[in-house]
Amino acid sequence: MHHVMAADPILELARPSVLRNPYPAYARLRENRPVFWHELLGSWVLTRHSDCLAVLTDSTRFASDWRRAGEDIPSSLLSIQMIDPPEHTAVRHLLLDGFRAQDRQALHHGLEHQARDMLARLARLSSFDFVGELAEPLALRFVTAFLGVPAPDPAWFVPMSRAIVDGMDAGLWPEKHEPAVAARAELAQFTGGWLADPPENGLVAHVAQEAAGTDVQPDVLRNSLRVVLHAGYESVSRLLGNAAVAMLTTTGAAAAFRSAPRAAAVDELIRYDAPVQADARVCVTDTELAGVTVRAGDPVTLFLGAANHDPLRFAHPTELRLDRAPNPHLGFGRGAHACLGASMAIRLTGTVLGILAGEYPDARAVAEPEHRRNLTLRGLDRFEVSLRPRQTGRRN
Ligand code: HEM
Repeated sequence: MHHVMAADPILELARPSVLRNPYPAYARLRENRPVFWHELLGSWVLTRHSDCLAVLTDSTRFASDWRRAGEDIPSSLLSIQMIDPPEHTAVRHLLLDGFRAQDRQALHHGLEHQARDMLARLARLSSFDFVGELAEPLALRFVTAFLGVPAPDPAWFVPMSRAIVDGMDAGLWPEKHEPAVAARAELAQFTGGWLADPPENGLVAHVAQEAAGTDVQPDVLRNSLRVVLHAGYESVSRLLGNAAVAMLTTTGAAAAFRSAPRAAAVDELIRYDAPVQADARVCVTDTELAGVTVRAGDPVTLFLGAANHDPLRFAHPTELRLDRAPNPHLGFGRGAHACLGASMAIRLTGTVLGILAGEYPDARAVAEPEHRRNLTLRGLDRFEVSLRPRQTGRRN
């Protein structure tokens, strides 16, 4: 007798063919088991839009701060993402004020200029890797320009950033946990260095100056700047890559992008294939959720990528409709911990794709995109693209 093991529905998401397109697998979960306890993760798994939204917007019952469920979290890991209101409010306001104090128009124009130059240079090549040559270097310039700090050496920063991303999947692959903790600590030491010797201008200068008058703990501030650097780099570079795949592999997307309101088009690209596919909370009070009782202390994993394709919320969810409105996707989260960088990320992405759709009519994929083996953050390893006219006919 052979025992045929049913494939685990979560581990299955890491199979190469599913990594390429996880949405059919999400649809099966959403239809068959929209709320279930996953033994290996030790967590509830949610895939419906309404359930994910309910958890995100209820920070009274569902915590980001695991100390509220009795866990022991070392202070080296406490950041804006890992503390809840009321403690969370002061650091969130400090960072938000810091962003608002920047000359966003000037920063954006500088980045637009850099993106245009990079694309013009890349257009001379017969083809290039959109991820390594454009999305990643541009994302690093973008986030460091806002922070007002010099860009770290990519040879040091990128592997560490990857280790942190890999660690987000440690529920499935426990060996990814320790390297991520070490990388977070090393990166926080680096961002702490900014605070010890702040630059003259920019977000870091602002928060370094203003922090003294607030209740924000120095460790929390340093760790939160680490989150900004890391989230800004990883989410933005992955968004640019995922969006480029959607644009260059969907017939008519460039024309649709040119005629749609730009922010709506970017929102749809995020809904369609978001960089942040999963998020987590811990329940702090026994709660009825979609017909089950979630107990205090139970972790809850939200598959935002599945929620973003929920047909109960989005008509024709598997279609890229760049003028979709309204578009209540959960790609930036929602509620108290919703993304701080959303408007800046939308603007940068709109600009880069606007240049691509408007000035490079011959832009096309020349190879299949290659996805990284990450489930929490979805993104590409490589995507070979050409901006030049296809060679037709043979010259003799
Ligand atoms: C300028 C670039 C970005 C910066 C600086 C940034 C920064 C942040 C920060 C600091 C938080 C934590 C907020 C809090 O806990 O109060 C956050 C949350 C989040 N960000 Fe971003 N982010 C950026 C880009 C993006 C992009 C492009 C995406 C996806 C399209 C994204 C998705 C999210 C999500 C889903 C959360 C919610 C996490 C949660 O609820 O636990 N971010 N972001």
